[in-house]
Amino acid sequence: MRLIVERQKLTLSVFTADVGGFVGHVSSHPDILDTAKERLYIAREKGFIVDFHVLRCGDDLELIITHRSGCANSGVHELVWNTFNACKEVSMDLGLYAHDRGLSSRDFTGSVKLMGPGAAEVEFMERGSEPVLVLMSNKTSTGSWNLPVYRVYADPFNTSGLVLDPSMAEGFSFTVLDIEQNSEITLQAPKELHSLLALIGSTSRYVVTSVRRNTDNEIACVVASQKLNMSGERAASKCEPAVIMRCHDGLPSVGEAMEAFAHPYLVEGWMRGAHTGPLMPVPFYEANPTRFEGPPRAIGAGFQITDGRLIGPHDMFDDPSFDETRRVANNVTDYLRRHGPFQPHRMSWAELERTGPSPVADKLKERFEKL
Ligand code: F6R
Ligand code: MG
Repeated sequence: MRLIVERQKLTLSVFTADVGGFVGHVSSHPDILDTAKERLYIAREKGFIVDFHVLRCGDDLELIITHRSGCANSGVHELVWNTFNACKEVSMDLGLYAHDRGLSSRDFTGSVKLMGPGAAEVEFMERGSEPVLVLMSNKTSTGSWNLPVYRVYADPFNTSGLVLDPSMAEGFSFTVLDIEQNSEITLQAPKELHSLLALIGSTSRYVVTSVRRNTDNEIACVVASQKLNMSGERAASKCEPAVIMRCHDGLPSVGEAMEAFAHPYLVEGWMRGAHTGPLMPVPFYEANPTRFEGPPRAIGAGFQITDGRLIGPHDMFDDPSFDETRRVANNVTDYLRRHGPFQPHRMSWAELERTGPSPVADKLKERFEKL
């Protein structure tokens, strides 16, 4: 029988980092996942965290943690930092690929943000039943979730609850980060829908970071948006973000959230973080992007959170209703790959230079003659 525990806020934190790939940048090694599980198991035994689950998408390791310490807690971040570094040690031992690119070598100062890992954290009062989706990606980039998040919380053609459930009738507010100016704005849908789309359609600059219900400001969704770019040492840059969506009971249902992924829309990332390709939603075991290191992947982990315990995960894209999405994604992949190094499959220099100068362009600079 379920005990009635004193109601207190719960924090769900999702951290992602690439601590070395197996093979190349395609997947992660089972020993890495085991190491993360061992570390977090000890933290749970000590009562420091309530529960955890370890997953991976491509070569990105994903730590899903529940605890009572609130968002951006330095103790939780230190646990995560130490866990990722323990995984990196194993990665070095196994000689996994590019183990040195995911974590900064700077000393830990209280937060993993801007040290390499991505972080999506949300604090809420657990409802009687708390269905939550955690979506994770690989070979994508910051802003990749803008389109599906918009569809889930602002598009009645996706989410019928926006017209059928009175508690959602007022719509949702979107907080949007400008990654160039490091500033943010909150826009209300449906009232400011067109302004919202004007910004977030520009996915490489404007990133939806959270969504709240207009009637009572209840948090519905958070997105990991910032991550240190290890090569360019840029603060807000490309990352393979995760998103947390709370579902039902006045929020979009699980099925409405999933519906937004039925179309394999184009995202930036893929090979060398330099190409545009279709986001292919796959079951956990198919999150190994091998063809041209793509196409970009998304996995979905569904949990019921009960007294902080992560009941799950259910593998959300392990469903034949997404077979057609995957088939279209493969067709789009064939079509785009024939463009080789040409735009718009390959991204423009301007886009590529957002994450650092191009050695190729620099080399040719002095050979250009001014006209
Ligand atoms: C993209 C990615 C890969 C690498 C590519 C080149 O996020 O991880 O597509 O960019 O395999 O890898 P390096 O530069 O390690 O030779
Ligand atoms: Mg990698």
